[in-house]
Parts: sequence; C-alpha cells; structure tokens
Amino acid sequence: MHAAARHNRAPIRPGEPDGHAEKGQPLNEQRLSERLERVAAHVPAGARLADIGSDHGYLLVALMNRGLISAGVAGEVASTPFHAAQRSVHENGLSERISVRLANGLAAIEPEDRISAISLCGMGGETIRDILDRDKSRLTGEERLILQPNGGEQPLRQWLMDNGYRILHEEVLRENRFNYEIIVAERSGPVRYTTQELYFGPLQLQERSPAFLAKWQRLLQLKQRTLTHFAQARQAVPEDKVQALTRQTLWISELLAEKG
Ligand SMILES: C[S@@+](CC[C@H](N)C(=O)[O-])C[C@H]1O[C@@H](n2cnc3c(N)ncnc32)[C@H](O)[C@@H]1O
Repeated sequence: MHAAARHNRAPIRPGEPDGHAEKGQPLNEQRLSERLERVAAHVPAGARLADIGSDHGYLLVALMNRGLISAGVAGEVASTPFHAAQRSVHENGLSERISVRLANGLAAIEPEDRISAISLCGMGGETIRDILDRDKSRLTGEERLILQPNGGEQPLRQWLMDNGYRILHEEVLRENRFNYEIIVAERSGPVRYTTQELYFGPLQLQERSPAFLAKWQRLLQLKQRTLTHFAQARQAVPEDKVQALTRQTLWISELLAEKG
C-alpha cells in the first residue's frame, strides 16, 4: 500500500453497512467487518473475483493486499460508491489489478476477465436473485458464488436450485445486532431442496448452529407477534397472508422443538 494512502484513507461514514466502529476503530480495507471477513474466507485462494455492489471496494482491496486473489473487478451501479471504490483502489496502488466499473449487476463482467468467483453482499436476497437472473448468460457456470443476502434468503435459494447450483456452505452470523447469512454455491447440475430446506437453508438445518437457532428463536417471536396483530386488526388481513405466516410459525416451532 502507498504510504500516502495509509494516511489519507477516509474512514467509512458511520451508519453504513460496514461503517460501524467496533471498539472505536473505523472499518476499512485493512480492518473488515466480521461479516466481510466471513465472506472473504470463502473466496478461493488465487481467485479472479468480481465483487458486484462493491460500495467502497474494501473487500477486493483487502483480499488483494493480503495476496489472496489474483485479479478483481468491482462493479457498482451508483456513482458515489463507484467513485469511493475507485479511490480505495487507486490509493492502494492496485489500479492495474482491480478494475472498477460503473455497471448494473453482472454487466460489470466481461468474458476476458476470466472471473472464477463472484461476491454479492449486503443486498436483499431478491435483489441478488434479480441481479443473477437478469444476466445469467454472463455466468459461465465455473464461478463460485459467495452471497451474503440481508433477508430474502428463501427466494435466493430457490433461484440457486432452479439454476442447478448446489449450496456448499451456509452460515448465520450476528454482528451489530443484525443477523447475516452467507451462502456459498457452485453450479453442479440438477439439485432438489425441500420447501423447508429452501426456507431455513439445507445445511443450516443439518448443522443447527447456536447462531442459527438464536436467529429463528427471535424470528418466531416476531412472527407470533405479527399474527396476534393480524387477529386484532380492524381490517381483515388477506387469508393467504395469515396462512403463510401460520405455516412459517409452525415450521419454526417444529425446528426449535427438535432435539439437536
Ligand atoms: C449495502 S451496500 C453493500 C456493500 C458491500 N457489498 C458490503 O457488503 O459491505 C450495497 C451496494 O450495492 C450496490 N448495488 C445495488 N444494486 C446494484 C446493482 N444492480 N449492480 C451493482 N451494484 C448494485 C449499491 O449501490 C450499494 O453500493
């Protein structure tokens, strides 16, 4: 890293996904959040990584500075984060190795990039699904997908199944009072998951980690509270909505009642 860059580096603004100061220290390309560290752990060594929705580009810059990836593409649809990523890459002297592109979703990737892994993090699961679906012709099927949805995991897993991606790793982590999920998948050919596996995550259902069980314990309480509000609502709530929520609370109660 350039010495000048080390001093000029602007901390992320508080309140942004990765701007939470932990123990008073700003998060940046040197010090990633635990969430992005967990994402980083699933990037294969030497990967050619496209980080779509890169924001400040810290994930790519950190991985490149650690010698863990061989090439990077930062894709951003919005101009402020695009310029922030350009600045991080430039200040770290990595402009030759990380391309920063203003583009919508997978349009940031060109065949000559020979991308071997794609990360899509910090967006809703439906948004990630839509980004993957809109330009799936740009996927060779050789890329590992490292996805960190903020909610909407079920529709994202449905897309993975429908498109022949097997889930290789899943985890739940809690940081700054938020639950985050990480889903790692690779194209494998036909794969079938049950409705419950799509809802909870097939591997998480097997592993039943403390973070996973705590997440669903909290969600059960929230959903039960919503059902009570529905019952008291002056205007009738659509029956299909009530049924879906009732079904989900039943699944969660069964999950939590099972012995590990
Ligand atoms: C909440 S930030 C997450 C940043 C970073 N990936 C992380 O996990 O810390 C989401 C970023 O995705 C970008 N984004 C949203 N939709 C996008 C799309 N279709 N193509 C590229 N970037 C997108 C937004 O501009 C924003 O910078």
